[in-house]
Amino acid sequence: MATFDLVIRGGKVYSAAEGTFSEKQICISEGKIASIERPSGRPTASRTLDAEGMLVLPGLIDSHVHFRDPGLTHKEDFETGTKGAAAGGVSLVFDMPTTVPVVTNASLFREKLETIGGKAVVDFALFGAAAISNLEEIHKLARAGAVAFKTYTVSPPKERLKEYEGSFITNSGELLQVMERVSKTGLVHCIHAEDDSTIGCLTDRMKFEGRKDPLAHYDSRPNFTEAQAVFDAITLSGATGARVHIVHVSTAEAATLLRQAKLGKSSQVSAETCPHYLYFTKEILQRKGPYAKYNPPARNQEDMQALIAAINDGSIDVVVTDHAPHSKEEKEKGAEDIFRAPPGTPGVETRLPLLLTMSYKGLIPLESIPRISSESVARIFNLYPRKGALSVGSDADLAIVDYGKIWQIKAEKLQTKAWETVLFDGMEVRGRVRQTIVRGNIVYEDEVGFGKMGTGELIRGEAKP
Ligand code: DOR
Ligand code: ZN
Repeated sequence: MATFDLVIRGGKVYSAAEGTFSEKQICISEGKIASIERPSGRPTASRTLDAEGMLVLPGLIDSHVHFRDPGLTHKEDFETGTKGAAAGGVSLVFDMPTTVPVVTNASLFREKLETIGGKAVVDFALFGAAAISNLEEIHKLARAGAVAFKTYTVSPPKERLKEYEGSFITNSGELLQVMERVSKTGLVHCIHAEDDSTIGCLTDRMKFEGRKDPLAHYDSRPNFTEAQAVFDAITLSGATGARVHIVHVSTAEAATLLRQAKLGKSSQVSAETCPHYLYFTKEILQRKGPYAKYNPPARNQEDMQALIAAINDGSIDVVVTDHAPHSKEEKEKGAEDIFRAPPGTPGVETRLPLLLTMSYKGLIPLESIPRISSESVARIFNLYPRKGALSVGSDADLAIVDYGKIWQIKAEKLQTKAWETVLFDGMEVRGRVRQTIVRGNIVYEDEVGFGKMGTGELIRGEAKP
């Protein structure tokens, strides 16, 4: 009888085909799932994990993290970032190109890869930036291994220009040209959709009126500014045939536009939202000030409900995190003037319990959590079924979770360097990650710790030649 590297017994294993969890035994060999079937006998294995009473999910994929490495490692680095991922049941992350330098060409892509070196605990993929200034580099970046491209439709504040140079576009004509180029690579074009000119105008108005209070952040980026940019991106996707993915959708208006877009048979549009839009309304800005500043901003109860409805009807495909850490000192700059705080909040480690808690409350079916946190992410970015699937031949990436466990998020226990800024601190949640497995390696075990650094490998995009 074959000897497997790892066998996982007794757990309730998610099946995409059945859309449910049922007791199965998973045998792993050379980093791949070798078999997955109803338990029968005891296969011989180098190691057996007892998952009795646990849920077994495909390892989560977080296609939206900012690990700030290289260049801004006082906020996060690839080690702390991927440790947080591992502790959160995440086996694969996609790091955004807004590091310093910004990933605008193939040689910077390779340099970033070298910087990451052996620091990654989980698998990772890297975005390329796409803007007019690097039009000629886009296809080369794709060939170098970028998993997808990212463009912001809103300009950054002056002090963050070095993080964004070459990744933002502020008019539709330029977006059209860049989208055409990205489309030729066969990779997905991720769009941060907030309208630059209306936000610029409203921000100036707030400042002129002397507004510095936390809600001025919300008032300077109202719902319609997201809707404008989402409409533009969807329209241009339709015109070019480009595969567009709208990141961190926050409004009911954008959800409606996405629902409409997806009615079109040939729609190439997908979208994500994040836990902070599903848990917080703009009142969080009043309570937590600069710590609750992120872009797009927290919205209203109706938006939250519309986002949940959109997740449940498929108008929003996935829930990822936009893990965007900043130090306490940086956030504190906004204590007296909200416009001086950098936007962003950490989240890579807390997504799964937050989603499981929503399912326990009846807001999202438990059975859809593997799809919205892993399977659909892999499908959107062309990595399925190597990633995002519990099936024979897939990479053995798994999250083993105790759904019955109720516990309290304690920021100081999280891996992120920006733990002092975590908004979910103190929240009671349900579902605790027991183990995270990456290609057959146990990279995290609750109450034990992390596997060895450097287990994480680059996952390359599937570019056209
Ligand atoms: O809040 C945000 N922070 N939104 C973004 O789009 C960027 C991010 C960051 O990099 O800090
Ligand atoms: Zn982001």
